[in-house]
Parts: sequence; structure tokens; C-alpha cells
Amino acid sequence: MTARFSRRGLLGLAAGGAAAAAVGGLTGCGTDDGTTGVQLRSELPLPRPFTVPLTLPDEASPLPRAKDGPDAGYDVYRVTQRPAELEILPGVRTPVWSYGGSFPGPTFRGRSGRPVRLRIDNALPRPTSTHLHGGVTPPSSDGYPTDLLHPSSGARTYTYPLRQRAATLWYHDHRMDFSGPQVWRGLAGFFLVHDEEEDALPLPRGERELPLLLADRSFAADGSFRYPSTDPTLSHTPGVESAYMDGVLGDVQLVNGRPWPYREVTATRYRLRLLNGSNARRYRLALRASNGRSLPFVQIGSDQGLLARPQTLETLTLTPGERFDVVVDFSACSAGTEVTLVNALADGPMRNVLRFRVTGPARDDSRIPTRLSSFRPLTTAQSVATRHFDFRLATDGMWTINGRPFDPGGVWAEPRLGTVELWRLTSDFHHPVHLHLAHFQVVSRAGGPPEPKDRGWKDTVDVRPYEVVEILARFDGHRGRYMLHCHNLEHEDMAMMANFLVR
Ligand code: C2O
Ligand code: CU
Ligand code: CU
Repeated sequence: MTARFSRRGLLGLAAGGAAAAAVGGLTGCGTDDGTTGVQLRSELPLPRPFTVPLTLPDEASPLPRAKDGPDAGYDVYRVTQRPAELEILPGVRTPVWSYGGSFPGPTFRGRSGRPVRLRIDNALPRPTSTHLHGGVTPPSSDGYPTDLLHPSSGARTYTYPLRQRAATLWYHDHRMDFSGPQVWRGLAGFFLVHDEEEDALPLPRGERELPLLLADRSFAADGSFRYPSTDPTLSHTPGVESAYMDGVLGDVQLVNGRPWPYREVTATRYRLRLLNGSNARRYRLALRASNGRSLPFVQIGSDQGLLARPQTLETLTLTPGERFDVVVDFSACSAGTEVTLVNALADGPMRNVLRFRVTGPARDDSRIPTRLSSFRPLTTAQSVATRHFDFRLATDGMWTINGRPFDPGGVWAEPRLGTVELWRLTSDFHHPVHLHLAHFQVVSRAGGPPEPKDRGWKDTVDVRPYEVVEILARFDGHRGRYMLHCHNLEHEDMAMMANFLVR
């Protein structure tokens, strides 16, 4: 409670919920598919789009394998959370909070069934809590919001058993009340899990497999990231500050920490592992070629790995926390063609995301098999309990789940280990709903069948205003305290989280 109200104080939330709802109305509430939140203006000149090359995050290398002792049998990685200065806008130094000095942090790779230990030192001025999003992780390593790693308190080891299928996971800060500002400052990166089933597929790989972390940011005149709680000029404008409760949006689109980057590609297939790592921004992505055509996405995977079969989609809607694994085929593009990844939900410069420049033909041995993976769809007959979770703004201006703001001691549900439950999610707004531990399949949306984007195993789902989404969740792996929450980080920080105990 105390922590929550100090966060409220930091944001300067004098006006409360009514104003938030009103501004929310202006920025997208009630529309079927908008982006909700308030966009902060950058205070320095911004680069022209597609002038900065895309880079890929560095890959972390594990320490030498231990033959005995507590680390035997683990792949051990070590990383220090520390302040760093990065050149994100050309010629401008931006102070960030980083994992290992970069934003995004290093990409960790794990293999299904081979446990990883991640040893983290905190050299930041604030406590942190690192969560592996999508991980089937014991509670003590899950990055619970109040399970803090304090500055200079010595290293903490997070253990990830990785008894789970290949998937694009990611890690990020999860500190109680401060996930929004701490992720905004740079505390996020990829964690890719591989397995034999996926390795055996002839998908594009190596240079032609691109993990892409999409995130928006704004910059202050001194080059730092702007964020309401860290910017005194933003926290004392009545009526405006409470709007940040709806979500903080930037006016610079970053991909892997580069503003509106470009990438040269050959006229071949590419695999894009897309992650919406934004605090609040939603994307509807499309590929527009300079010859006037659109290129489709062939979706091969979702949050939790491969789909059973590929599906072709003209657009992809990504809500914060979601991942889409897609293959794009540039082979019909002649040399010199430019293909722009655009966000149809944004206006002006924020419609631009990333541009591919096709250099010319090259050999391509990749293929998209018609059958990608075999897994059994969950059926409602398997469900042993039905529960309802309602995501809503309370009259006191807190974001709540079933009418209650988050409280670390509270329990919203007690599913049993090894069972499947039907969870009905409803909301008053755009809420990307994420479950820790449990992976799920969407079984209905708005009273009808799921949409194509809902396919596969997921851990985060787009719940739109006044919509009912039903999921079948499987509670496997570990007993203990986990959470579900809204992955709009400003909603999360404003108490839109709930505990469930797996018994
Ligand atoms: Cu990616 Cu609990 O969050
Ligand atoms: Cu998570
Ligand atoms: Cu929300």
C-alpha cells in the first residue's frame, strides 16, 4: 500500500480517476483498436527516419561450465545492472539503466530442458526485480515485484529450469510500482529458448533471423529519456499528469534501441521475432513496399513458440508483452526495393517503424513447412474450474482486477498444479493481460471464435474495451505464488496486478 501511494505521489496524481478516464476517452478508449496513453514530446531534434542502421543485441556468453558445486549442470550467465550512456539519437548521449551496459540487454539463449542460472549484480541506484516473461520458473526466481535485489547487496541468482518448449521469451524489470520507469530506462532484453523440434525445421536462421524489440521513447533536452515521474515539469500540471495512468507513449520509435532504423536484406526469406517491449503502445504492423505492394507476414509462432501450422496475415496486432514469430519473403522484390514496417495504429512519424532495403538475390535454402509443431489443443472439457477476472478503473482512480487494487498479501485464485482452468477476462479499456507461469490458449473472443492472431500457446493476450476473452490456462511446473496483471506498465504500476496461488 505504502509503496503504491508513494508512486502515486511521484506521478503527482492529484486529479484522480475522473480526469484519467476523460483523457483516456480522447486517446482511444471506446475505439475498437486504438493506442491508449499520452505521448510525450521530445525536446531535441529527431533524426530522419531510416538513416540509422539496425543492430542486433549482443549475445551473452555463459561462464565455463562447472564440473561440480552448486552450478554443475547449469548454464551460468552473469550480468551487472548498471547505468550506462548510449548514443541512441545520432550525436546525443542518453543515460540508461541497463543489463550489462546495453539497451536492449544481451540476448540469452537457453535450451529446453537445460537449466540456466542468471547471476545478477545491481549497480543501479535503485532496487530491481528481474522477471523472465514467459518462463516456467519457480516462485523464488520469478521476479515477484516485492522480491527485490537491492543495490550493492551482492549478486542474486535466478534459476530457470526451462522445462518448456522453444519460444521467444524476454526479461525485464518488475519492481513494485516502478516497472514502468525502470523498463523505460532500459531494463529489458531477449531470452530465446531453443529445442530439437524447432531446430529440425528449415526456417531462416543466422543472419536471416532477427529478434526485434519494438519500444517507443521520448527524449529530454539533455538527451535523457523523458518519463513523468523523473521529470518535474510533467508532474505538476493538473489534469494532465493523471492521464499518464493510461500509459506513457514516446514520439521516437526504437527497434533494438535504434530510432526508426533500416536494414539491408537479400531477396530471400527472413524470420522476424517481434516483441512489443513498449510500456503502453499497441501496434498494428504491416509491410509496405516501395512498388506500392504490401508483403504479408507468415506467422509461425506466438508468445510460447511454434504454431501447429503457419498462417498468412496481412497485419499483426501486438499489445505490450506479446511476441509474434513471422517469416517475411522478400524474394519477389527487385534490388533497390524498400519495404517499410509500419504501425497503422499510430499517426505521423510514429507510423514508421523499420525499413528493409533489398540488396539483390541470394541463395535461400529455407522453407516454411506446412506442419510446424504438434501439440494438442486444450478443450473446455479439460477445465476443472471457471474464473472471471475483470480489469477496470476504480472510482478512486486505481486500476483494479475484480475491484481490488494489487496487494502482495492478497489471493485472487487458487488453481491446482497440473490442472487446466477456463479464465474469462473482461475489461473497460485496452488491457494486455499476462499470466506468469501458466501458458494458455485463447478459446473465444467477444462471444465468437478466437481471431487468427490469438492462435497458439500464449502468455499475454489483447483484451479490448468491453470485450470478453476466454482462455484455457494450464498450471504446470511449480507450486506457489504467481501473478496475472495488465502489461500496460503504467496500469501495472497503478495496481492492476493480482496473485494466484498454485496449490
Ligand atoms: Cu512481462 Cu509480469 O511481466
Ligand atoms: Cu511474465
Ligand atoms: Cu491495462
